[in-house]
Amino acid sequence: MRETLERLEREFDAALADAGADTSAVEAVRVRFLGRKGELTGLMKSIGSLPAEERKDAGRDINALKRRIDQRLTEAAQRAESASVEEQLARERIDVSLPSCIPWAGSLHPVTHTRRELERIFREMGFSVESGPEVEDDFHNFEALNMPPDHPARDDTDTFYLDGGLLLRTHTSPVQIRTMQSRKPPIKMVCPGRVYRRDLDATHLPMFHQLEALVVGENVSMADLKGTLSAVWKRFFGDEVEMRLRPGYFPFVEPGCEYDVSCRVCEGKGCRVCKNSGWIELGGAGMVHPAVFEAVELDADRYSGFAFGLGLDRIAMMRHGIDDLRLLVENDVRFLGQFPV
Ligand code: DAH
Repeated sequence: MRETLERLEREFDAALADAGADTSAVEAVRVRFLGRKGELTGLMKSIGSLPAEERKDAGRDINALKRRIDQRLTEAAQRAESASVEEQLARERIDVSLPSCIPWAGSLHPVTHTRRELERIFREMGFSVESGPEVEDDFHNFEALNMPPDHPARDDTDTFYLDGGLLLRTHTSPVQIRTMQSRKPPIKMVCPGRVYRRDLDATHLPMFHQLEALVVGENVSMADLKGTLSAVWKRFFGDEVEMRLRPGYFPFVEPGCEYDVSCRVCEGKGCRVCKNSGWIELGGAGMVHPAVFEAVELDADRYSGFAFGLGLDRIAMMRHGIDDLRLLVENDVRFLGQFPV
C-alpha cells in the first residue's frame, strides 16, 4: 500500500506540474485523482478488501495523501486563476497616452449666433430685448403702422392670412406698436423674430428673421438714428466698416431711408456679392411717423423717435460668406457643423 501511495503521489505531482497555470488542466488533474472515479477514491474504496489489521494504517495514509493533494490542487487553482487575470490585464491594457476621441459638440445655427451677437450689442447700448406674437392681427401688422386697408404698400408683401382676421406677421414692426401701447417713453427696445411672406425662390424664403429697433423719447433726432446705426455696425463688423443712408419710403416713418454698409467681402472695392457697388443694403429706417404715434395714443408734439429693421439671415450669410439662402433651412449637419461656437 505504501508504495502504491508513493507512486500515486509522484504521478499526481507530475500531472500537476504538466497542468501548469491552465485552470481547466488543473481541474482535470483533480478529477483524475479525487473525482468519483478517481484513482485515490478507488484506493479508498478498496480498503474494505484489506486484511483487518492493515485497514487503519491504510485509511490514515490515504487520507493524509488526500489532504496533501487537495492542498496542492487548491494552490494550483489559485495560481492558475491569478495568472489568467494577469494575462487578461496585459492583453486588455489601456494606453492612456493615446489621444481620446473628442465628443462631437453641437453648435449654434449661424442665424441664432448672429441674433445673439446683435442682442448683446444692443443690450450693452441700453436697449431692452422684446418679443411679440408671430400670429398677428391686421391692426398691429398694418393699420397702426400707417397702412389702412386700402393702402397700396400692403400689396408690397404677400401675406399669409389666417381665419378670424389674423395673419402671420410680415415684419417685426408690429412689436413697435405693442411696446408703445404697453409702455410710456423713454423707450429703447429691439425685437428679433421670425416673419412670414408668400415668397419662395433662390433669394427668398417664406419664413425668415428680422430684428426691429425702436427709440422713443423727447428730442430724438435723425442724427441719433444715424449715430446709433453706425455704432451698432462698427461693433458688429469692426471699426473699418462704413455706413450710408439713402432716401427710402416706408409708410410708418417720415423721413424714411434705407441704409447700407461697405461690402464685407471686398471691403468696398466692388465684387460679385455687392454687385460691384461696394455697398450692401441691410435694412430700412426712419423717424416714427406722426400717424403711428396717433395710433398708439402718444403725443406726437412731445415725443419723437426713430426705428429701423434688418434681416438677420442676410447678415448671417454675409458674415460667414454663405452664398445660398437654402443652406440656412436644410439642417444639414455637414453645413451646421462648420460654425463652432
Ligand atoms: N418693416 C420693414 C420691412 O419689413 C423694415 C423697416 C423699415 C423697419 C423701416 C423699420 C423702418 O423700423 O423704420 O421691410
